[in-house]
Amino acid sequence: MSDAITQSNTGIPAVSAQGESWQMQQKRSGRLGVNAAFLQEIKDDNRQLKTDWDRLVPMLAHPETALNHWNEIVAALAELRDQLAIHFSLEEAYGYFDDAIDVAPHLSVEAESLKGQHTALFAQIRDLADQFAEADLKRDGQVEKLLRKFDAFQAEFQTHEESELKLILDSFGDDIGVGD
Ligand SMILES: [Fe+2]
Repeated sequence: MSDAITQSNTGIPAVSAQGESWQMQQKRSGRLGVNAAFLQEIKDDNRQLKTDWDRLVPMLAHPETALNHWNEIVAALAELRDQLAIHFSLEEAYGYFDDAIDVAPHLSVEAESLKGQHTALFAQIRDLADQFAEADLKRDGQVEKLLRKFDAFQAEFQTHEESELKLILDSFGDDIGVGD
């Protein structure tokens, strides 16, 4: 394990304040970085979020199925919205940090970009939850339209998560995971 990664007394790997071998040797101020170990742990531990997605996706696969489960979908979307609020808050509080250690410029740019996506993603799920709750189901094409919006949101969230996972891996670099 790298000198930059220490074991905290909670068992959670933590980045030392020194971070001597963390990615880059340059010290600069004002950069955003990720605490890769915490960010990874937040993702691994958020079982409720996974449960919410697993519950929603099959109900929203077809318009007929969706219509048959509309009230359940509305409740599940509200739950997903609340879970995402918690998820993004945790990531921002513990997964991202300002200028605590050396951060490579390209990783900092990526971190800024990904952290910045949280606001837009949350606005989308909040609006989506409202639109499903207020939908006029008798209107032609309304259900299909909302299902397409949900699909678009799911794809965008997935892309965000994959990019964050890539950032975690890039931030860990070669420092850990090789068993030496
Ligand atoms: Fe995120």
